[in-house]
Amino acid sequence: MKIGIVGLGYVGLVTASVLADRGHYIVGVDIDEMKINELNSGRIPFYEPGLQELVDKNKDKLIFTKDYGELLDSQFVFITVSTPTVNGKIYLDNVFSAATSLSKINKDSVIVIKSTVIPGTSRKIKKMLNREVLVNPEFLKEGSAIMDTIKPDRIIIGGDSEETIKFLEDLWSFTNSPIIRTSMEEAEMIKYAANSFLAVKISFINEIANLCEKIPNCDVNVIAKAIGMDKRISPYFLNAGLGFGGSCFPKDTAAITSFARDLGERLKIVEAAIEVNNERPFRAVKMMEELIGELKGKTICVLGLAFKPNTDDTRESVGLKIIRLLQEKGANILAYDPKAKVKDIKISSLDECIQYSQGIIISTEWDEFRGIEEKLRDKYVVDGRRVLNYKLLDRNKFRAIGLGE
Ligand code: UDX
Repeated sequence: MKIGIVGLGYVGLVTASVLADRGHYIVGVDIDEMKINELNSGRIPFYEPGLQELVDKNKDKLIFTKDYGELLDSQFVFITVSTPTVNGKIYLDNVFSAATSLSKINKDSVIVIKSTVIPGTSRKIKKMLNREVLVNPEFLKEGSAIMDTIKPDRIIIGGDSEETIKFLEDLWSFTNSPIIRTSMEEAEMIKYAANSFLAVKISFINEIANLCEKIPNCDVNVIAKAIGMDKRISPYFLNAGLGFGGSCFPKDTAAITSFARDLGERLKIVEAAIEVNNERPFRAVKMMEELIGELKGKTICVLGLAFKPNTDDTRESVGLKIIRLLQEKGANILAYDPKAKVKDIKISSLDECIQYSQGIIISTEWDEFRGIEEKLRDKYVVDGRRVLNYKLLDRNKFRAIGLGE
């Protein structure tokens, strides 16, 4: 089958390479010429485990171009462009302009909206283009994006036409995942409800962690493990730490809470989850101050710039937020991350970072940071992601999220 993908970010490229691997012929379109050139020279613009190999393996079935004209005769065209939040509101121009460009070229293919859009958007596109549109939200996680696409927990397909829905169901049948048919609006809402719920779960356990820190002999990890064994709660997304970052949770929670307010409703729990999350970097810095005193003139090393392990993505990364706060307080910064690079921030080696700093804040739970307790012996340490064995450290020089004295 010939399939088009418009927007070659994480979702677009992963979807393209997985479908190419299933034998389909894929045309990937993006307006960013540099990205297209990079892809055509065989390079993936970001790090995602297994993706480079999958693209290399299927390169004869993958075309990357700026030209919408190449999408002619595609059975499906997936729209996977970004939908950022600008001034607290979702910015949908990318989706509308992709749909408009598409409508000029191709009259027959089914348009599938994979980008996260607020409820009602896809129906507007359907009316605007006067043809069938399906909504097929994406739940992939960076770091495990390929597996999440090959074997998702469920597939949501929203649309008006049973026949068109069936057509897309057939495309995804290789996953053997349960498929739920919904209205277009329900499909759009499911994505927001899922991400909001997970954000709430993270902020919930982070507030319990705050409380645990004030109670002697009380460790949030023990609490999380025990409550997670209740099937109604489940053990996932209960890791207390420095909160959620990345390209989805912060933007989607902002978009849906603002959408709710526009409709005269409030998502108070989600708003609180955002507030709790916004406090996390301040908390890490305060913990360091409590250990080390005034930060001005001190050298602090931040371990982890990626918003989570196994990615080089630094969007909404707590590590970067902590660095800005430390700089405002006049501290000298050292930084290390196994994958992420950031303009204006010099990356030193892990050993150098530790050696030349007085204080260390762990902001991402990279595996590489586990088992380094011996090296940290003389340092002041804030473990923001609970990677260290606190029993091996001097408690007068060490603070960890959610760990009571
Ligand atoms: C998320 C959703 O999981 C995915 O379904 C959606 O399509 C896009 O957004 P992603 O942003 O890749 O995926 O990362 P995820 O693994 O979900 O983690 C999000 C953030 O939450 C990270 O900053 C992570 O460190 C944090 N997190 C996650 C916690 O702080 N505690 C947890 O228990 C879990």
